[in-house]
Amino acid sequence: MSVSYASILWNKQKKKYDLGILIFVLSFTTLFFGGHVILHPDATFETIFIRNFGLLAFLLLHVVLIIGPLARLNTKYLIILYNRRHLGVTMFIMAAIHGVFSILNFHSLSNINPIKSVFLSNLNYDSIIEFPFQVLGFTALLILALMATTSHDFWLKNLGPKLWKSLHMLVYLAYALIILHVVLGALQNETSPILFGVVLLGFVSISSLHVYTGLKERNVDEPIDTNKSDFIKVCDISDITEDRAKIFTVSGERVAIFKYDGKLSAVNNFCKHQGGPLGEGKVVDGCITCPWHGYQYLPHNGQSPPPFTEKVATYKLKLEATEIWIDPKPFAEGTEVTPIMIL
Ligand code: HEM
Ligand code: FES
Repeated sequence: MSVSYASILWNKQKKKYDLGILIFVLSFTTLFFGGHVILHPDATFETIFIRNFGLLAFLLLHVVLIIGPLARLNTKYLIILYNRRHLGVTMFIMAAIHGVFSILNFHSLSNINPIKSVFLSNLNYDSIIEFPFQVLGFTALLILALMATTSHDFWLKNLGPKLWKSLHMLVYLAYALIILHVVLGALQNETSPILFGVVLLGFVSISSLHVYTGLKERNVDEPIDTNKSDFIKVCDISDITEDRAKIFTVSGERVAIFKYDGKLSAVNNFCKHQGGPLGEGKVVDGCITCPWHGYQYLPHNGQSPPPFTEKVATYKLKLEATEIWIDPKPFAEGTEVTPIMIL
């Protein structure tokens, strides 16, 4: 949480996470090179090298995109989400190795600047078979570079979570460009169905998981009849598990209503760190704990416990028998609201 910055606060969990990424990268590279030496002994080192790092980046990008919806469906995947930025930066490094070596390999002998050559050596934009697919990869790489360089909490704090998140949504544009890069490039000359299968499986998994979790969230978002009163009825006490929350959309904002220690409190669902869903977290040591990276907020005032300074909006609740009602007007971030006692 943000009191001061350190370039990276290493802890045991981050080291284990990064070791896992390193083992994956080394194992994939060893198997890929080994497999090529056995199955395609005539393939050049440069070709295997470029393909290896292109595919590594492609696979890691899929993991980055799939973790979000997976973690919403099953909390055991939160462990991968926790340091997703490390995965994103590794993916960018792999993509950069692939891109730089492709440019060196295919454009360094050109009589113009190699980067200009990427854009000018092929202008067949009206052909599917000969489309200048490297331009698509180059543009995607620029987006990944922008995201990797702004991934640190320094940028998150200075740009603000909403702008930072919008910037990082560009990953979906990069993904679309990379799919086109592969489909219009490598797949045009590919005779084996493996690459085609990998691309199709990846695309179907990512899109179906996003659609499925999106539909699930829409059910959470169903607006609730205001019944012409200031307060809106949301649910019954028994609908909320102890130390957990239920999320509702009131006046266009997602609100998490927590049940803890014989009390009820409501806060805005959007975590001030990276917009994680607070209502999917739990109350630990009296604090709402974000499921993504563990930022904490006090349920009764939405403030992070000192010395931290993050604040979220709070809401007024009332109980009618066992029914929970909420006033949709938020209080300013960090406003104290007396919790409702469950009798
Ligand atoms: C400067 C940017 C880039 C350039 C110049 C470039 C160039 C190339 C070239 C020439 C190929 C064809 C290799 C072959 O047919 O053997 C290729 C394939 C590929 N590229 Fe890129 N690329 C760039 C960026 C990217 C990025 C950002 C990604 C993914 C994150 C990516 C993923 C791939 C993949 C998955 C393949 C197919 C590998 C295979 O043949 O199995 N490329 N790229
Ligand atoms: S989004 Fe990172 S802790 Fe909430």
